[in-house]
Amino acid sequence: MPISVPLLDQLRAICGPAHVLTAEDPATDLSPWEQDWRKRVRGRALAVVRPASTAQVAEVVKACAAHRTPIVPQGGNTGLVVGGVPDASGQQIVLSMTRMNAVRSIDPDNLTLTVEAGCVLQQLQGVADQAGLLFPLSLGAEGSCTIGGNLGTNAGGTQVVRYGNTRELCLGLEVVTAKGDIWHGLSGLRKDNTGYDLRNLMIGSEGTLGIITAATLKLYPKPAAQLTAWAAVPSLQAAVQLLGLAHQGLGPCLTGFEVMGQFALSLVDKHYPQLRVPLWQSTPWCVLLENSDHENEAHARSQFERLLETALEQGCVTDAVVAENLSQAQSLWHIRESITLAQAAEGLNIKHDISIPVSRIPAFVAETDALLAREFPGVRMVDFGHLGDGNLHYNVQAPEGVDGPTFLREHEERVNTVVFDQVKRFDGSISAEHGVGALKAGKLPHYKDPTALAMMRAVKQALDPDNLLNPGRVLV
Ligand code: FAD
Ligand code: MLT
Ligand code: ZN
Repeated sequence: MPISVPLLDQLRAICGPAHVLTAEDPATDLSPWEQDWRKRVRGRALAVVRPASTAQVAEVVKACAAHRTPIVPQGGNTGLVVGGVPDASGQQIVLSMTRMNAVRSIDPDNLTLTVEAGCVLQQLQGVADQAGLLFPLSLGAEGSCTIGGNLGTNAGGTQVVRYGNTRELCLGLEVVTAKGDIWHGLSGLRKDNTGYDLRNLMIGSEGTLGIITAATLKLYPKPAAQLTAWAAVPSLQAAVQLLGLAHQGLGPCLTGFEVMGQFALSLVDKHYPQLRVPLWQSTPWCVLLENSDHENEAHARSQFERLLETALEQGCVTDAVVAENLSQAQSLWHIRESITLAQAAEGLNIKHDISIPVSRIPAFVAETDALLAREFPGVRMVDFGHLGDGNLHYNVQAPEGVDGPTFLREHEERVNTVVFDQVKRFDGSISAEHGVGALKAGKLPHYKDPTALAMMRAVKQALDPDNLLNPGRVLV
């Protein structure tokens, strides 16, 4: 289409007028696409564009490139680092991928599933389940996040200790480049050494290098039995000791190892009393463990009981419950997954998604808690996360009675500096699984290796020289 045709008219011609939403239409509320999940930022979009096919995505990108209009790819908009909403300029389009939600094919013999980027994660888990197989990616937002967003952020979740991050679960991608070309990379191959690994470059690039339109994902055999236990532990050091015992005792059957601090659980108890959080009042930390066994439930139960007996003898567990059935297990997981919502209900907070070598986490928390308490008396630490992966959500809530927005306005910058300097000292990462987005982009020059950052800039320049794909995210 000639450049002289206004961009919005071109987009309407490509996707259909009903799928180009603008604020000019008084009946349209754009806030679901403009407001981030944590309600930290409300941007303003030139338009929300909803393509239905890879060909339409490619045409949209070409039209936007011709008009030098930036594109913000968006899936379920559950990201936590302000990566998928437009900025305040009113000049960026949101490319919402949710209409591209077809399951293209399943190959049980190759253990692969090929799907479009807008498929909701829970839908994919269901498709795999119906085929008698497992797609193991699992996280609290699975009812609304999309596989495109999971790939865009290289999401982690609660099964990483056994199955890895989203990157480890993906064999192939279909991607629309910044020029509007289509890369057909949907191979189901487990071996392919024909040059640079473009798939892994795209995964985790947060929409800054290309638009993922489809993916071929790995499937696994379903375990014969899954058991869940909830254990009270006297310290973080004890939790690390329990993790060691669990690795030894369960081997690859250990599929989840989550830690939850007492204050985090108290928030669940306060905001969702119907969930009946076990053991939390008498212990500083609880651990949620999952054992997935390929023999049978009796074998899994006896393995689990042996592990917990040893842990009780060694003093790294003081009390524990093992779920009797699937519904009890789901209730325990539901408590864990409710921490994010309970924390949000308590008020605006400062989130940190950090990773540190597991062995050093207890020392990190002890030292950093002390530094924060000295500078910000009364701050409340909402600590929880994927201890099995060395990934802690080390979150800071304003002191009791202090308004969250005011606390953030006055202290967020300094709190971040204290925490991130400590992360650096402990050889960790300032973003373990949520990504960088706009929220942490300004921090990378300080906390990322300069040579790595220079290579990242070179890649961005090569693949998106006009900086049209998600500008201001990851790299600034
Ligand atoms: P969006 O929020 O829409 O986008 C996220 C990023 O990906 C943006 O930068 C966007 O531009 C980019 N993107 C989206 N689609 C595409 C595409 N098709 N091509 C290229 N780029 C794209 N994360 C974890 O890692 N582990 C957790 O345990 C976890 N738990 C969560 C629990 C809750 C309650 C919530 C709200 C969030 C949680 N998250 C977690 C955050 C996590 O990043 C997302 O839930 C999920 O991965 C994002 O998917 P989405 O479809 O919502 O992506
Ligand atoms: C989680 O582990 O629950 C998520 O990463 C969300 C969060 O950090 O709040
Ligand atoms: Zn997490």
